[in-house]
Amino acid sequence: MAARILLVGSVMMDLILRCARAPEPSESVLGHDYSNAPGGKGSNAAVAAARTGAKVSAYATIGKDSNGEYLLDCWKKEGVDTTHTLTREGANTGFVAITLEDNGQNRLIIFPGANMLTPPDDLEKAFEDPFDAILLQFEIPFETNARAIELANEKGIITVLDAGPAQDYDLEKLPPVTILSPNETETKALVGIYPGDIETCREASKKLIERNGCKFVVLKLGDRGSYIYGDGLDVLVPPYKVDAIDPTAAGDAFTGTLAKAYVEMGDLVEAAKYANASGALTCTKLGAQPSLPTSAEIDAFLAAQK
Ligand code: RIB
Repeated sequence: MAARILLVGSVMMDLILRCARAPEPSESVLGHDYSNAPGGKGSNAAVAAARTGAKVSAYATIGKDSNGEYLLDCWKKEGVDTTHTLTREGANTGFVAITLEDNGQNRLIIFPGANMLTPPDDLEKAFEDPFDAILLQFEIPFETNARAIELANEKGIITVLDAGPAQDYDLEKLPPVTILSPNETETKALVGIYPGDIETCREASKKLIERNGCKFVVLKLGDRGSYIYGDGLDVLVPPYKVDAIDPTAAGDAFTGTLAKAYVEMGDLVEAAKYANASGALTCTKLGAQPSLPTSAEIDAFLAAQK
């Protein structure tokens, strides 16, 4: 049966400005292209899960504006159920300015807007439907994340928390999640350790487990693959080599695909191999959601590796 996944999280409109190099302080530079694309860490992960075959529902908040309408429409086209998506009059839909340099380096400024008005209050209603896993990140209020994890833990639902954007989040006050998944900079922000080699990956993961009590830590290490620690696992999952042009949403693709694959395979290492492929493929195209692969694309990519 297809994994049933609830997104409790963010949805944003991304503006991507391409330039030879990003400006220094007080400097202006000429860009050579721009585009808009649906994004938001939560929505990206949810769409990654949907494109790989999961049945996805979104508990999220948009503003009553044209960006919100567009993003809602995008979800409907992806088959994401929006019954539990809220619209807040007077609030702006989340918006993100992204500079993307020709060398592939991106920088993001995130205005969460309506996402920060996502209340804990309506979660119980959303949880009346049966789910196998929930997807969370740090782009909605802390109380909403906490309540969602509490409800999921009561029902034995897998919780996957993407620890972005980077900040020293109060992990001790959050109920324990099943999988806590930061990237390198997020790991450093949470435990003060940059996971540069296997020793520091292990050390950082132990500290993350100490802070939240999570079952597993899955570190996203970019072109170094991913690292899994917890419940007897201590595994570096190797990366796939691709011609990367834009890393935006690669981590979200990884998280969404990991949740879906873990539910269906029941094996976190195998799920991470599949999710590594999803993250790698995301880097080969521009923009957040336009670059998320389908299961057919991942399968063809993995078959070509043999
Ligand atoms: O992780 C990439 C995402 O972060 C972008 O799509 C942007 O919307 C921000 O939320």
